[in-house]
Amino acid sequence: MLIDYSSIRAVDLSHLVPEIKRLDHKKLIVGKPGVEHYSLLAHITSQINNGLIVELGTHHGTSAVALCSNRSNRVVTYDVKDFFTANKPDNLERVLGNIFDIDPSIMLQAEVIFIDTLHDGTFEQKVYDYLLDNNYKGITVWDDIHWSREMINFWSKLPNEGKYDITDIGHGGGEGPRGNISGTGIIDFSGKIHIVK
Ligand SMILES: C[S@@+](CC[C@H](N)C(=O)[O-])C[C@H]1O[C@@H](n2cnc3c(N)ncnc32)[C@H](O)[C@@H]1O
Repeated sequence: MLIDYSSIRAVDLSHLVPEIKRLDHKKLIVGKPGVEHYSLLAHITSQINNGLIVELGTHHGTSAVALCSNRSNRVVTYDVKDFFTANKPDNLERVLGNIFDIDPSIMLQAEVIFIDTLHDGTFEQKVYDYLLDNNYKGITVWDDIHWSREMINFWSKLPNEGKYDITDIGHGGGEGPRGNISGTGIIDFSGKIHIVK
């Protein structure tokens, strides 16, 4: 899996704007890489074919629409509340509920997992521990690693091996409770990430 900064900057998601119904999110999905993370997500999904991507934290569906941009992939997205307003892509499956109350083992089949949920550090740690304990071999992308003290704490305690802070091509905008930027990180359980700046 290549994280190629110039390819991410060249991603054009303007064709997806009509799929987003929330007005402010129409601007977000075409937001500049380094400010918004949707081009990064589309770049990642463009490199997987006929694979499974799991998303934790659907919200209005903006990131799910970006993750679905390669239609050959199956994307399964989870949220504990139903906020969804986007046009649902054919390759998207929505699940309402906490993945640990349903079946977390689906994550072990996913090439990529995108985690963008509560940001209190506890759910994130639970996901990380589950993946580690179950010998996960894919790639995880974490939104908002700088967003709150709890997220900074979670992120800083993880081992450095396979851990990449790619906020500069991901979600560098946003405003956390203390005015922090959002931040985007990758934890590579696959050993196959190659980053080209
Ligand atoms: C920041 S929003 C997600 C934004 C979305 N990924 C995007 O970029 O367009 C966070 C979402 O996580 C959801 N959430 C909170 N706890 C969760 C959990 N345990 N599992 C799944 N979703 C959860 C919230 O209900 C909320 O909709």
